[in-house]
Amino acid sequence: MSECNEFYTLSNGVKIPKIGLGTWQMDEDTAERAVSAALAAGYRHIDTAAAYGNERGVGRAVQRSGIPRAQVFVTTKVPAEVKTYRGAKDSIARSLEDLGMGYVDLLLIHAPKPWDEMHAGGKEPHFAENAAVWRALEEAYEAGQARAIGVSNFREEDVENILQSGKIVPHADQIKAHIGNFPAALAAYLRGKGILAEAYSPIATGRLLRDGTIAAAAAKYGVGVPQLCVKYLLQKGFLPLPKTTHPAFMTQDLQTDFTISGEDVAFLDGVKAASSRLADLPNVGGRLEARLKAVGIHDFEQLSEAGARGAWLRLDAADGSADEEDLAALEGALRGTEKEALPPSVLAEGAAFVRVAKAGTR
Ligand SMILES: NC(=O)c1ccc[n+]([C@@H]2O[C@H](COP(=O)([O-])OP(=O)(O)OC[C@H]3O[C@@H](n4cnc5c(N)ncnc54)[C@H](OP(=O)(O)O)[C@@H]3O)[C@@H](O)[C@H]2O)c1
Repeated sequence: MSECNEFYTLSNGVKIPKIGLGTWQMDEDTAERAVSAALAAGYRHIDTAAAYGNERGVGRAVQRSGIPRAQVFVTTKVPAEVKTYRGAKDSIARSLEDLGMGYVDLLLIHAPKPWDEMHAGGKEPHFAENAAVWRALEEAYEAGQARAIGVSNFREEDVENILQSGKIVPHADQIKAHIGNFPAALAAYLRGKGILAEAYSPIATGRLLRDGTIAAAAAKYGVGVPQLCVKYLLQKGFLPLPKTTHPAFMTQDLQTDFTISGEDVAFLDGVKAASSRLADLPNVGGRLEARLKAVGIHDFEQLSEAGARGAWLRLDAADGSADEEDLAALEGALRGTEKEALPPSVLAEGAAFVRVAKAGTR
């Protein structure tokens, strides 16, 4: 029996299936196909976001599945860049329209800061803006447009801000969590507040698939790396959101009828993700790896903290030969995609950034 047929109960009593399908980096048509396949495979929980640009595809798949709407749990998110009450109201209305749904099951603030600031480690916490956006989410909840509301990428101080300024305690916080990168202190804090922790990037956007240590641990249980990743998070009381477009993988990711021993959980807690080795990232070849290390960036987590642009600036400061190619490579590594798969808008933005940076106006 898979936990996909089991539920966590949110603090308002709403039941949420314990495993959900992620849909980041799927375009509208891909998302429609993937969600259709996932529903056929038994998934009843889909995670999307306005920023993924695929809500229409997700909505079509849910409608065409023939499964009653009440039996499918759908999450969407107000973009990280939307930081006004009015903007959030508009975004919620647009998401419902694009999904073709009268309500979503869970509505989240995608991140406490716009992504550029998140990646660059921006210090401005946007407390007043997040309080205003939260008010729009509370109104959506009270109007029946969302059965539950929450946040994503919020740390303790961001959640505290909502607790102090808002009326409703967030029902969930969707945060990055996987073997080798488990936020134990934040998890304990959220548990104490009765806020469910959802785990995004449970397979580290695919990077854990290439980790020999984790593969060996999975083999001990006769399962694959993704199953071990999903089960590890379930045993931590998290709600994993694995993403895949392949029906066979979808079925695998639901096969969680085994138990990781306490000893092995402790071992996995200590695996300081070899998975986050720079060498394992797409696009980061030996030359770029050496240059990143020279400016103090040794693994994915550090690259992610520094952000592509921040990392490029640090490279540039150490070595003026860093260029557009390097920036695109770093962007790709952060997104877990091949450089060629980056949208033209990201590449154009990268080129513009390099021009500005080279001109010394930074
Ligand atoms: N709130 C946020 O800020 C935030 C940020 C990131 C992600 N998320 C959510 O979390 C979801 C998951 O995170 P993620 O997209 O970073 O990726 P992930 O689930 O950590 O990893 C996805 C990768 O693993 C592969 N995979 C999955 N199951 C597999 C299997 N059984 N065998 C082999 N390969 C398998 C996928 O392959 P294929 O795709 O080739 O099938 C894909 O390359 C997202 O889609 C999104 O919904 C939220």
